[in-house]
Amino acid sequence: MSATSSSGRLTVTDIARQYADGRRIAMLTAYDYPTARILDEAGIPLLLVGDSLGEVVLGYESTVRVSISEMLHHVKAVVRGTEHALVVADMPFLSYGVTPEASVDNAGIFLREGGAQAVKVEGGVRSARTIEGIVRTGIPVMGHIGWTPQAKYGMGGKVRIQGKTRETARRLLADALAVQEAGAFAIVLELVPEQLAAALTERLSIPTIGIGAGGGCSGQVQVLTDLLGLSDFSPRHARAFADLRATISQAARAYAAEVEAGSFPGPAETVRMDDAVLEEAVGHGAMDRPREPLEVPLDRDL
Ligand code: KIV
Repeated sequence: MSATSSSGRLTVTDIARQYADGRRIAMLTAYDYPTARILDEAGIPLLLVGDSLGEVVLGYESTVRVSISEMLHHVKAVVRGTEHALVVADMPFLSYGVTPEASVDNAGIFLREGGAQAVKVEGGVRSARTIEGIVRTGIPVMGHIGWTPQAKYGMGGKVRIQGKTRETARRLLADALAVQEAGAFAIVLELVPEQLAAALTERLSIPTIGIGAGGGCSGQVQVLTDLLGLSDFSPRHARAFADLRATISQAARAYAAEVEAGSFPGPAETVRMDDAVLEEAVGHGAMDRPREPLEVPLDRDL
């Protein structure tokens, strides 16, 4: 476990300690029980049940389609699969920022029903009040600025690096400071030029978690399907550390070939019974009858 030597579930205090010690923080997205278990055993301290779920697991064209109940279903699975990682639930589109009461209620659902230990909220200055309201109830919040996928349509629809001009860079600094001031324990910087991300990191006293924001952040986050080589399309900032697409495809083809050849299942995957008992039960050959008359119950008799 990289963030703490103690056992049990990590807290935001452990993440703050890792940041204060100058140790970079590795965060990954997770969406289901078996992979969450593997990532937890691998010592990944922060797991984000991202609303990228919508695109990479559920096949939607955008994250704005993801509902609270869909998120909750996957948050619960990831929480069940983890013992150590701090699980952050991404608040989906319109589950926050509409009214302060609804934002707090919905954040609470992810902790109370989902079992997550924190939530993530997109937006800088525009979400600061919302973050403040949620934090005030005792729920840890991770911010997210730069490219914010839920605002995709409002941001022109096309995925773009944010903060390249004097004006937009200054706006991002204001966003970062507003999120920190609102009480967030960490902040995701998505698609921000390396130098700007490093400058924001220097000016903040909470960890920055970069994705497409260069190596100067306090930590990094990657979408798991990109990391594992499972995505149809991989963004420039992602690196595949495995090629599971090829591995799964090879496994599926090998399985189908063995089924067709009759070599799967083999003796190792098969259970046998006493031949005498079989004969007593169903007779010797296909045309034979069992020794005792068979009573076939009909549906209505059950
Ligand atoms: O939904 C998600 O996976 C995210 C990460 C890209 C940070 O928000």
